[in-house]
Amino acid sequence: CATVGGGSSLLGFGSVPVSTADAVSVPEGYVAEVIAAWGEPVGLSGDMPAFKWDASNTAAEQAAQLGMHHDGIHFYAQGPDSGLLVMNHEYVDDGLLHPDGMKTWTAEKVRKSQAAHGVSVIEVERKDGRWQQVLPSPWARRITATTPMTVQGPAAGHALLRTAADPKGTQVLGTFNNCASGITPWGTYLTCEENFINYFNGPEKPSAHEKRWGLKKVDATMYRWHEFDERFDAVRHPNEINRHGWVVEIDPFNPSSTPVKRTAMGRAAHEGATVAVTADGRAVVYMGEDSRFEYIYKFVSRDRIQPGGARANATLLDHGTLYVARFNADGSGDWLALVHGQGPLTAANGFADQGEVVVKTRQASDLLGATKMDRPEWITVDRNGWVYCTLTNNSNRGGDQQPGVDAANPRRNNTMGHIIRWKEAGGFEQAAFQWKHFVLAGDPANERAEAKGAVHGDAFACPDGLWTDARGVVWIQTDMSTSAMGKGDLARLGNNMMLAADPSTGEVRRFLVGPAGCEITGATATPDGRTMFVDIQHPGESPSERSDPAAPTKISNWPHHRAGGRPRSATVVIRRRDGGVIGT
Ligand code: FEO
Ligand code: CA
Ligand code: CA
Ligand code: CA
Repeated sequence: CATVGGGSSLLGFGSVPVSTADAVSVPEGYVAEVIAAWGEPVGLSGDMPAFKWDASNTAAEQAAQLGMHHDGIHFYAQGPDSGLLVMNHEYVDDGLLHPDGMKTWTAEKVRKSQAAHGVSVIEVERKDGRWQQVLPSPWARRITATTPMTVQGPAAGHALLRTAADPKGTQVLGTFNNCASGITPWGTYLTCEENFINYFNGPEKPSAHEKRWGLKKVDATMYRWHEFDERFDAVRHPNEINRHGWVVEIDPFNPSSTPVKRTAMGRAAHEGATVAVTADGRAVVYMGEDSRFEYIYKFVSRDRIQPGGARANATLLDHGTLYVARFNADGSGDWLALVHGQGPLTAANGFADQGEVVVKTRQASDLLGATKMDRPEWITVDRNGWVYCTLTNNSNRGGDQQPGVDAANPRRNNTMGHIIRWKEAGGFEQAAFQWKHFVLAGDPANERAEAKGAVHGDAFACPDGLWTDARGVVWIQTDMSTSAMGKGDLARLGNNMMLAADPSTGEVRRFLVGPAGCEITGATATPDGRTMFVDIQHPGESPSERSDPAAPTKISNWPHHRAGGRPRSATVVIRRRDGGVIGT
């Protein structure tokens, strides 16, 4: 067995060195095998188109295949050797997705791009020691940027959600830019709409609301969906942007169910949605908004979770209180309620009702004086009730005309990122908390003091994915951007990686390094802890040329390394050769 140890009770594997190889590295004694690559059929009965290596699959075929750029993931066990894997497909590289990239631009390419976004549900089983997809499967499902969804909560039917195609404001087509995910105790999956605004074409002169959400006129490097799907032209359909940026609930065990956009939890560039349960049985959902100087939120349900699964809890996330975090300099913190009629959230200040508060969650949080964070990404809750949030980086912190440093975001030009943690004394529903930094990421070899960090263990930067396993290990995944990777403060850190942290000692140890140009994001395991599933996103991502098919393949041809092939996002299945529990 590969236990090396090093003074920590929870971490029992040998540290993996930094690497720039086009391969996945795991500790000695472990194996990582690839499943569920972009373009493999999801297993819809009678409709299982094989992946074409030159990317010539049609839009209709892509809608029956795994999407591109895997992100949040969860394993729902159905037996000791079987279960469902549900995963997000955050975005696409149009260069990789079509044989000639974006050289030409057509309605078919827009449909294929939309079909490669969203969520996949696949069935997997372990046979002869190896996990593989079950094909076909009655559970198989694709949810894409055009799948019909309903809207529930205070923004359902609101004037700000009504469009020509949906005059009632209650039925939305699709979800996209699904970044992190969450799970509920009643068996559903939460997928989060992150940088949705980048899919819309805006006017030359955006309104104050459009500006606050970053709406811009589309340029040639963007998705260009609006050229063949007019609802993405916000000049013609200004309310369509308000129909995205929500947390979407999906019941993976009911393939014919309609996904629901849960507006009570607010609208944001949602990274993730992590559920904790109060002592009296209510759901608390923690959410980060990954954008520079945006906020951390929590939602506390009004009602208790009921036995009886998804059906019994079909409106649980529609009623409750949404809060935004303020981190005070003395180590205390406050959850500020985003409730219409309370404090400044009145009609006189532009909030007609709770529907308008949730559509304009950012503006409401600005008025309450919430703390502007360094890009809040994933959130996890450890076994002692500490809640962790990754603040991936923010090179604008402390810059000209930008917010300065504060106690919670203490480094100007924060290229390395940090992880903050807090605890609400008296339970997750409480409005007051105490916070501290868990780790300031960095590389001790850096000259700039602010980029050295304070890591007890292996160097890393730009933490993004976070997940707590059944033993209490907090797993950290990194997202150093491909434009910054290998240079400057990140020069010695190699490719993106996954590390394990012991929450009691703070020790961090590198467990996995990904292939060239990838991000590591999303982790889940079988209940026995002996198999872990980790998503490898955008191998070969090219810093400037997402439209050109040659650009990514110059950097990576992972995982199949096939001549004339393309790099493909995929899930890696990690196990110990001796069958032991991962991480011990
Ligand atoms: Fe999609 Fe914030 O990472
Ligand atoms: Ca992320
Ligand atoms: Ca990220
Ligand atoms: Ca990414």
